[in-house]
Amino acid sequence: MTNLETYLALQLPVIDFRDLKPGTVKWDSVRSDARKAMEDYGCFEGLFDKVTAEVRKAVFEASEELFRLPLETKQRTVSDVKYRGYVGQNPTNPMYEGVGIDMAENSEKVNEFTQLLWPQGNISFSEAVLLFTKQVSELDFKIRRMVMESFGLEETYIEEHLKSTKCLMRMMKYRGVDDTEKKELGMEAHTDRNVLAIICQNNVKDGIEVKSKDGKHWIKANPSQDSSFLVIGGSILHVLLNGRVRAAVHRVMRMGTKTRYSAGLFSMPNTEDLIYAPEKMVDAEYPRLFKPFDFEAYYKFTSEGSGRRDLSAKVDAFTEKLWPQGNNSFSTTIQSYSKKLSELDITIRRMIMESFGLVKYIDEHLHSTNYLLRVMKYKGPDTEETKLGLNAHTDKNIVTILYQNHVEGLEVQTKDNNWIKVKPSQDSFIVMIGDSLHVCLWFLSTFLHNRVFALRTRTNSMVFNVTGTAKWSIVLSVSPCDDDRNRDEILTRIVLNSESRTYREFAK
Ligand SMILES: [Fe+2]
Repeated sequence: MTNLETYLALQLPVIDFRDLKPGTVKWDSVRSDARKAMEDYGCFEGLFDKVTAEVRKAVFEASEELFRLPLETKQRTVSDVKYRGYVGQNPTNPMYEGVGIDMAENSEKVNEFTQLLWPQGNISFSEAVLLFTKQVSELDFKIRRMVMESFGLEETYIEEHLKSTKCLMRMMKYRGVDDTEKKELGMEAHTDRNVLAIICQNNVKDGIEVKSKDGKHWIKANPSQDSSFLVIGGSILHVLLNGRVRAAVHRVMRMGTKTRYSAGLFSMPNTEDLIYAPEKMVDAEYPRLFKPFDFEAYYKFTSEGSGRRDLSAKVDAFTEKLWPQGNNSFSTTIQSYSKKLSELDITIRRMIMESFGLVKYIDEHLHSTNYLLRVMKYKGPDTEETKLGLNAHTDKNIVTILYQNHVEGLEVQTKDNNWIKVKPSQDSFIVMIGDSLHVCLWFLSTFLHNRVFALRTRTNSMVFNVTGTAKWSIVLSVSPCDDDRNRDEILTRIVLNSESRTYREFAK
């Protein structure tokens, strides 16, 4: 589902970190505001003037200078590790370019990176990166310290934690759209895998949007002042604080014709450390949510393995197996088809659940499912005879949305057990309800709602091969998230949506 609507009535909290000293009344009140914002949004706008106007200007100038370099030069910094080095020229996201400088607090590392781009050196570039990192780190440390203090974590733990992270500094560029009226998705909805991200942008207003806690609205994260930074909680902070703060689900929109440059500091755990919530964060009310895990393995799993979180990465990986040289039209068609059809799926499931009075379960339910796209071909028999292609069955999933070519064959059983032919039509989809939705509706209605429904909520169907022509169908299958609580799946779930619960927990 890609809902591009933004809800203008909601705004992110704005918290003022200027002139703050630990131990003062103001510190305490800002600390509780920061914790509340992280609990409610996983995100807020922070005002901080220790990053000077000159440093901001220098960093955006450095950024423009870097992205103006020839492609071959920028590609010298390409890295195997995601978000390190240069990223760009991605056919599914051609309007985006970015670079990530690892350990940007370390002048040697920054100089090494600079020399890859400018072998003769570029002092103004490396100084801008180092100063930006140094000054923004101060805000990053302050916020992490405050949020951890607010949960009663001890000074020694906080100090150790702050020492256990490093800085990834990223510069990002999104080209504007051609038409001022247009609004396009620049980066799909996601949560960050780091501890905290602190981001500022050039004088372009729009860009990042953050999902509200109830998952219903997108809130614009527009900076209100020159000293504004957007502070975004990542999945590592979520895990360290045992789920007590949110990892904000956010996306980037492209609006207006101006190019949007942004610069951000991402605090990352040292790769050799295990990530887990300290005992202080665990009690009877808040049992441990996540097993200790290795950050490097988690990062690899979510950026390379089967846990790759973004649809385009998954589709690209699948396409590569069939066409190692790439097949852009296949991959973009599959992606846009799935995205558009998932909008229909969401609408249908929302309507069905609303009609049974289950409104308060809708969002959790929608977050607990995933999609499988299947392309199927039934070979037609050589003669005119009709053969059974697929026995009568119900689908095990939640919903199936099927599109078929002009060849007949699909039949569906009615309430009174008659079989009806489903006529193919150019502009319609067949929607079939699977066993999982049947069980889910029955359960919620009967036990949680104290109402008993005699539902016929699943579709019995079969397929015949009726002519000499092959029958093609493309199916979007919606299924519950896998409930096996092994580490990797939990981590994928953190990334996809920090608050999503599994299907069985939901139906418990
Ligand atoms: Fe992000």
